[in-house]
Amino acid sequence: MIATAMYNFDKNLDRAARILGANRWQRIYHVLLPLIKPGIFSGMTFAFILSFNDVPLALFLVRPGETTLPITVINYYEYGLDPVLAAVNVASLLFLLAVIFLFERIGGSRHKSMEEANEPADVADIELVDVTKRYGDHLVVDQISLNVPKGEFVSILGPSGCGKTTTLNMVAGFHSPSSGRIRIRGRDQAGVPPEKRNIGLVFQNYALFPHMTVAENVAFGLKMKGTSKSETEIGVRRALKSVHLEGYEARYPKELSGGQQQRTALARAIAPQPSVLLLDEPLSNLDLKLRESMRVELKEIQQQLGMTFVYVTHDQEEAMAMSDRVVVMSGGVVAQAGPPVDIYQNPASSFVADFIGKSNLAGRTRRVRGRR
Ligand SMILES: Nc1ncnc2c1ncn2[C@@H]1O[C@H](COP(=O)(O)OP(=O)(O)OP(=O)(O)O)[C@@H](O)[C@H]1O
Ligand SMILES: [Mg+2]
Repeated sequence: MIATAMYNFDKNLDRAARILGANRWQRIYHVLLPLIKPGIFSGMTFAFILSFNDVPLALFLVRPGETTLPITVINYYEYGLDPVLAAVNVASLLFLLAVIFLFERIGGSRHKSMEEANEPADVADIELVDVTKRYGDHLVVDQISLNVPKGEFVSILGPSGCGKTTTLNMVAGFHSPSSGRIRIRGRDQAGVPPEKRNIGLVFQNYALFPHMTVAENVAFGLKMKGTSKSETEIGVRRALKSVHLEGYEARYPKELSGGQQQRTALARAIAPQPSVLLLDEPLSNLDLKLRESMRVELKEIQQQLGMTFVYVTHDQEEAMAMSDRVVVMSGGVVAQAGPPVDIYQNPASSFVADFIGKSNLAGRTRRVRGRR
């Protein structure tokens, strides 16, 4: 039962907690345990009933003098604990806990010192240098190089399977590149786990914590950063205000519409004020009308906060309407990168021309400006 509960656990929830800064123990305590609690309780009840049955049965069925496991357990309690055995058990448990604690501390301080090091001025927020990703023989991302300056809205646009999510996951730290370098704010990210990268991520399926209210979801990243209670409240209020979700603080994700869930996911990602926000097809689960109005709002939020956005989409119109720069990907390589107008007017290949050909750039751009 516990295994089934674990199996059904949405791995994106763990990733969401991770990118919001939660370490392993915080993820287990705040996310995994509350969600698999029903499985744990039913498993424990089942085990108790089974063993309760086992003990009287074993006592009744076996010959005198024969030892079974339940009888051994009963004898163990009846004649008292062996003090040496008990001491060894406790000592080994303490030793194990100490090793885990030290491991976490050493890992934590190593990455902390990286964070606290002086940030070089005038450096790109994100830099990819010849980044390649292979799964066995399958080359998924092939020597991508990309510089994203501070405050830019960059879209990675391409057909399904071209490597967009893989690229984003490497920037987030969920996958490591097979070769090449990723730098965030000038620092090499090799070996830096997602929880230490100080970036935000909005998932396609939102990955909201179902057992937390809207306010608790949005507060999560701030809490993991150790922000005080009053500052967390201010941060939550500010984030909910920017996504127009005031008044929804006490609702649970299942009590929200798709659009409201999307806004909550966005508020949760921006609340800890990361300098970079990654968004993986964040609007694809919304209907067309909502998608179009959210495009305008997202662009406005990005400009208000001055945050760097890396926005993954396979929707040409979306990318062309919102971005300062579009990176068109095809089969794991960058087919063309540049401002939307340049790409539209001077496509570098027939693939790019075909892929963006159907979008009505002028109309979309006008609409975004008109709403500002
Ligand atoms: N863990 C993995 N093992 C093997 N192959 C993988 C793995 N993850 C992704 N791939 C492959 O890498 C390629 C790129 O996948 P990716 O998810 O990056 O595509 P995408 O551009 O995000 O597509 P979509 O628009 O459908 O989300 C696909 O062919 C996919 O099958
Ligand atoms: Mg994808």
